[in-house]
Formats: sequence, structure tokens, C-alpha cells
Amino acid sequence: MATITSPVRSPRIQHTDCFIDGAWIPAASGKTFETINPATEEVIAEVAEGDQEDIDRAVKAARKAFDKGPWTRMDARDRGRMMYRLADLIEEEADELAALESLDNGKPYKEARTADLPLVIDCLRYYAGFADKIHGSTIPIRGNYLTYTRKEPVGVAGQIIPWNFPMLMAAWKWGPALAAGCTIVMKPAEQTPLSCLRMAQLASEAGIPNGVINVVPGFGPTAGGALVAHRGVDKIAFTGEHRTAQLIMRNAADSLKRLTFELGGKSPNVIMADADLDKAVAGSYIGLFLNQGQCCCAGSRVFVDRRIKDQFVEKLTKLTRARKVGDPMAMDTEQGAQIDKAQFDKIMHYIEKGKSEGATCVSGGERAGDKGFFIQPTVFDNVQDSMSIAQDEIFGPVMSVLTFDDWEEMVERANNTFYGLAAAIWTKDLSRAHDFARRVRAGTVWVNCYDVFDAAAPFGGFKMSGQGREMGEEGLKAYTEVKTVTISLS
Ligand code: NAI
Ligand code: MG
Repeated sequence: MATITSPVRSPRIQHTDCFIDGAWIPAASGKTFETINPATEEVIAEVAEGDQEDIDRAVKAARKAFDKGPWTRMDARDRGRMMYRLADLIEEEADELAALESLDNGKPYKEARTADLPLVIDCLRYYAGFADKIHGSTIPIRGNYLTYTRKEPVGVAGQIIPWNFPMLMAAWKWGPALAAGCTIVMKPAEQTPLSCLRMAQLASEAGIPNGVINVVPGFGPTAGGALVAHRGVDKIAFTGEHRTAQLIMRNAADSLKRLTFELGGKSPNVIMADADLDKAVAGSYIGLFLNQGQCCCAGSRVFVDRRIKDQFVEKLTKLTRARKVGDPMAMDTEQGAQIDKAQFDKIMHYIEKGKSEGATCVSGGERAGDKGFFIQPTVFDNVQDSMSIAQDEIFGPVMSVLTFDDWEEMVERANNTFYGLAAAIWTKDLSRAHDFARRVRAGTVWVNCYDVFDAAAPFGGFKMSGQGREMGEEGLKAYTEVKTVTISLS
């Protein structure tokens, strides 16, 4: 873990315009929107509100950079070098970037600095190494021919990201796209545009040519919608809510764009009676409360063997009651603010629902403080599968504890959701662990750990939790087209 000093309390806000073709320009309409500090509810800055016209300009710039620019023709190794350089520049500016992320998002500075930033840097370096290692194969076919494949960049990638890990989501999407030789139009979340705009400037300083990365801040239905519908865009990569993905799929139908989605979850986290209980408690606590509970893979359905359930809840609530909620910039803060008023209201609504549907609130259950979007870490015991807090993605610091008696029944209940993003099991029984890993319908399974991420490990969802994978070699597939070339040898 990096040694960190106290944060830059007021990071510089250097970029609030659209970044198109290497230049900072206001929205064509002249409109701006406010980005808010969720810890104080105060306005941080006015940001350009991009719309159709700005998206069109950005797509044209990305198109030109792809079709004519140096990017796709340069030595792949040089593309990789620029990506390494971008990672270096981000590393040099890590303190300030972490502070910017914390300011715009409400997450603890310390977490942004020691988790988000290192993962961002690692992801870009991992994919930089791939730039010169993307190649096809020669294939023996019937007859006197030479057949080989080429892996070519898919073209202009439209990328739409959410607010929970703004820089990391940008890195997950830029990494494979740049390595493959694509060009990019990104729309960051309206709640958190600032760090992505800063990253675009650093990319430019790293030597990445104009038009290769364009960033258009704005709202979903307008800027996002225009990007999805644009004929000059070859592919959309989206992270966010499944309902938004459904809209995007409909909107992309006319142009039959390639689509990859990384969506939400209601991930089962299973605690077996033979588990190392302290480790299981600590891991389940992180697995749900990390990032204010705003994680797509949050372990929000915790299935505990009835024989150890009371012990589990007792140990867990000891942690949640001691959790330090407050000023994101304070070095001892463990939980910051929820992203905005809408999410705050949604989470409080689910907490009320949990209470009224008959679950037992054993920790938290209220707002924290009276300014900013802070919520107490909340644990519900005696949750039934049919309750809304056991079915819907809450995306906040709310854990549901469910009890099980029988293995087969538990596996069935774990799978009884339209989501399939992640799952975890805590046990010393190797056979059970493997049986669970095989049978649970989820893109990621953790055994005796939670939230272990690595740029080399593919991540994505089964069922309505997504399509395609990000990260790892697998993540390149979304950004490459396979071309088959056959030459007659007679
Ligand atoms: P969202 O899916 O509406 O927003 C994510 C991104 O999509 C943002 O950049 C937004 O501007 C854009 N967008 C919205 N509507 C669009 C459209 N019609 N066309 C193109 N782009 C569009 O998610 P939101 O409203 O921020 O959060 C709502 C819920 O979604 C959360 O409570 C949570 O349950 C889930 N969520 C899941 C995330 C994940 O990582 N899987 C991340 C964020 C939210
Ligand atoms: Mg904000």
C-alpha cells in the first residue's frame, strides 16, 4: 500500500469544458450544469453540458483520428509507450487526482488514493503491454491456400461510465480500447465529470494524438443518447443500471452497433458453518460497505448457516457500529457520502421498506449528520428472499442477512435472481467451494475473499448483469474485429 500524507483539500479544477480533438471547448449550446460535492451539497464547478452537436463533433474527431490519423498506423509499440506514459503522469499526480475524485464523488480520500488510483495505473500499464501483442493466427484450410486472421480495432468506441469509480471505469474502458488501436468518445457520469476530464488532458500530455480520446460531459438521455445513436460510432461500452442498458440496446438497434454492458447485481455471499468466522465477517463487511456500498458487485445478500448466524451478526454489527462515517478528506474516515440526493433518497426508501416489510434493523438505519448525503452503515437481520431489500439492487450501505439450513436449497436461492455478477463463499471445505463455484451463475466467484480485482482477471456478468467481459486478455475482444484473409497458392 502506498504511504500517503494528508490530502490536498482543494484540488485544482482545471478542466470543465468538452475535450474534443485535443482542444477544450464549451458546449455548442453554451449550457453548463453543476457538479456537486456530495459531502457538503455545495457546487464545485459548472461543467459544459454536452449534447447532440458536441457528440457529433467528438465522433467526427474520433472518426478522423481512426480513419486518417497516425494512431491506427503507428507502430503498436509506440501506442503502448504512450499508454505507459499516461500511467506515469497519473502516478505523478496521484495525490491531487485522488483528492479530486473524493471531492466530486464523496468517497474517502484515503480509499481513492490507496485503492482507486493504484488500480487505474495498473490497468493502463497492463493494457499498454498488450498493444504490440494483439495478433491473429495462420489457419490450415482445405485446398491450396494460405489463410490467416488479423485482429483489427473495432473503430470508434463510445464509452458511457457511471459515478461510483469514475477514474477506474475510465481506465477499464480506455485501456483495452487504446491497446487495440480504437479511438474513443467518452461520456462520464453527470455526477462525476472532473477526474475524467483531467485524465484526458494527461493523455494529451502523454502524446496520445488529438482526436484519439474525446470526452463530452453531459446527461444520459441527451449526450449519452446521441452517442448511442450516432452512425459514426462502431461500438458502445456501457457500465450502469440494467434499465439504461435496455434503452441503449433499443437505441443502438438501427445501427446494429456492437455492445458490451457491465451492469448491476444482487450478489450472494455465503457463510458456511465451518468458515473462519472472523475472516468471513471482515470480508463480508468490506464486500458490502466498500465505497459506501456503491459497488456493482456488492455482496448484498449474505446467506449465513443458521447455526452460526447470531454469532456472525454480533461480530458484524460490532464493526458497523464502529465504522467512521463523515468528512471524506479526513484520514480516519472509513465511509464518505453517497453520490447524490437521488441515490440518498433511494437508499433511505429501501431502509424504510426493510423495516416495514418485517426485517430486523440491527445496526444503523438512519441518515448520518444533517448535511451531505451520509447514511449509517445498516444491517438487516431476519431478511426473507421475497422482501425488496433482498431482491433489488440498493447501491448503498445496506446489508441483508438471510439464513439457510440446507446446501442444495441455498444454492438454488443464491441463483434465484435475474442478476449474475459476483458471488462468494466462506468455507474450509474445498469440495463445497468448488461445487458452489461451478453451480453459481455469476461472472466472478470469490472463495474466502471478496472484492479482489486485478487488471489481468476478466470481470463481467451472467444473465442481466451484463454482456461481454472487461479486463484481462478477454477484455480486448470487445475492441477487436477478426478479419480472415485467404490467398490462393496455385
Ligand atoms: P445510469 O445507468 O442511469 O447511469 C450510468 C451512465 O449512463 C451515466 O453516465 C448516465 O449519464 C448514462 N445514461 C443514463 N441514461 C442514458 C441513456 N438513456 N442513454 C445513454 N446513456 C445514459 O445509473 P444511475 O441513474 O446513475 O444510477 C441508478 C442505479 O443504477 C443505481 O442505484 C444502481 O443500482 C445502478 N448503477 C449501477 C452501476 C454499476 O456499476 N453496475 C453504476 C451506477 C449505477
Ligand atoms: Mg459530483
